[in-house]
Formats: sequence, structure tokens, C-alpha cells
Amino acid sequence: MAKYKFTKNQEKEISGILEKYPVKTSALLPLLTLVQRSDQLVSPEAMVAIGEKLDVSPAYVQSVMSFYTMYHTQKVGKYMILFCINISCQLNGCDKLLEHTARKLNIKVGETTSDEKFTLHREECLAACTEAPMMRVNDTYYGNLTEQRIDQIIDSLD
Ligand code: FES
Repeated sequence: MAKYKFTKNQEKEISGILEKYPVKTSALLPLLTLVQRSDQLVSPEAMVAIGEKLDVSPAYVQSVMSFYTMYHTQKVGKYMILFCINISCQLNGCDKLLEHTARKLNIKVGETTSDEKFTLHREECLAACTEAPMMRVNDTYYGNLTEQRIDQIIDSLD
């Protein structure tokens, strides 16, 4: 396994993150997020490197990571679209909107577009039920969705 190498900027960011946490392992999610943002996945090599930074095993890193749906071991698109399918969104037509989104992107749910720009997934409640139907694109929440609004959002992302 090739050794994962953090960039100089990442090393600087990691130092800043570690300064905020008196207990090193508490910085695990921020470090996973940092890697996920730059690589669009967290590889086994990155898990080892993160573990070394925090003095924990790669298995520990993986066990924590596997709890959270926002971290991926397979490469995802530049934009990860998570579509809420829970009750409030169900009652407001999320199934039809999810189908529309998949059709627009010409992929199935769970897939990534051939240009690696978009990945589409279902997600449980995004905790913004008052604006159902909801989706999250990377870190941005979009609510009160309609087919037209989804088209505008997707078309505005470059
Ligand atoms: S049910 Fe969709 S955001 Fe809560």
C-alpha cells in the first residue's frame, strides 16, 4: 500500500484543527472531512495517515467513518446529491422528484455521472423537515423543491 501524503496546505489545516481539540481523537471527523473534500473519497491509505496523526489504528478510523454516510471509500462526483426520503419529504413528493433528478442526470440512484460531476443518493431525514422536500448538495441544503427548482440548482453548478 502506497503511503498517503498530505499536501502542505492540508498539513497546515491539520495543525490548526489539532490545536482546537485537547483530545486528539476528537479531530477524527474534521480530518476525514478534509480528506474527503480533496479526494472525493477516503482511501485505506488515507485512513492509515489519519490514524497516524491521531495515534489511533486504521481500523478505528474505518469503524468511525463507516457510521457516517457522508464519507465514502469509493470515489464520488464533485457534487454529492443526497435526497431525503423520510416521512415529511415522502408526503411532499420526494419520490417523484428523485426520479426526475435521476432522469435529468441520466443515472440511477447510487450512481455517478460519466463526467464524475454528480453522484445521487437517498438519505434519511436531513433534519430540515419544515422545508420538505429537501436535498443536500455537498454542504448546502435546498428545500421546498420542485422539478423546476432542481433543474435550476443542477444547471447552476459548475
Ligand atoms: S423528512 Fe426530509 S428533511 Fe426531514
